[in-house]
Amino acid sequence: MASPISKIILFSFLLLLSLYKSNGSSPHGEKMTHMHFYFHEILSGPNQTTVNVVKAQKNNSFFGMVGIIDDMLRDGADPNSKLIGRAQGLATGASMEQDNGLLTTLNFVFTDGSYNGSTLSIFGRVVLGTVIERPIVGGTGQFRMARGYTLAKQVNSTSSTLVLEMDAYIWHY
Ligand SMILES: *[C@@H]1O[C@H](CO)[C@@H](O)[C@H](O)[C@H]1NC(C)=O
Ligand SMILES: *[C@@H]1O[C@H](CO)[C@@H](O)[C@H](O)[C@H]1NC(C)=O
Ligand SMILES: *[C@@H]1O[C@H](CO)[C@@H](O)[C@H](O)[C@H]1NC(C)=O
Ligand SMILES: *[C@@H]1O[C@H](CO)[C@@H](O)[C@H](O)[C@H]1NC(C)=O
Repeated sequence: MASPISKIILFSFLLLLSLYKSNGSSPHGEKMTHMHFYFHEILSGPNQTTVNVVKAQKNNSFFGMVGIIDDMLRDGADPNSKLIGRAQGLATGASMEQDNGLLTTLNFVFTDGSYNGSTLSIFGRVVLGTVIERPIVGGTGQFRMARGYTLAKQVNSTSSTLVLEMDAYIWHY
């Protein structure tokens, strides 16, 4: 049978564990924030949000392509839903394989709601048509010292538009 002392130690440990779990904080005081929003790209027309600055050198391949985006982050999949920020950066064709993998470097710049003025920096690989997982490598404002990941999946596409559903899981102070 356990001694009273060891019972107290066990009880304290369980209490600490439950506190630790209930507020979702790490031992260093970081918070986990989950954000859910939609990424809207317009590929052509008057409100185009992407430009292709260097074309790929071969047909049926993105390899060598460089594109710049200033895409919209909205709170819904509908193109008229509320704008909450922009996704600004580069997409480059970085794979010679059939998967046409891209290297993307993006800042998510939030312009509405409680994260207005804060940014997240994303650096990662994209293979279109898959669930895209990318690392969050930093942030500013409320997202200082951020790290985490984003998941994106295509929910709508036309010849001139692309909509991705995004989940971002962010550790930050
Ligand atoms: C482009 O954006 C403007 C301003 O938001 C809007 O009035 C117009 O309908 C858009 N054009 C197209 C083709 O979506
Ligand atoms: C790509 O395809 C177009 C149209 O089929 C052709 O005119 C062009 O020469 C091709 N370019 C290369 C680099 O193969
Ligand atoms: C976001 O912050 C900017 C700068 O502080 C401010 O001008 C703007 O009104 C804010 N937007 C919203 C929707 O709160
Ligand atoms: C898909 O995108 C097109 C173009 O923006 C839009 O007209 C259509 O309503 C969207 N479909 C869905 C299911 O959101």
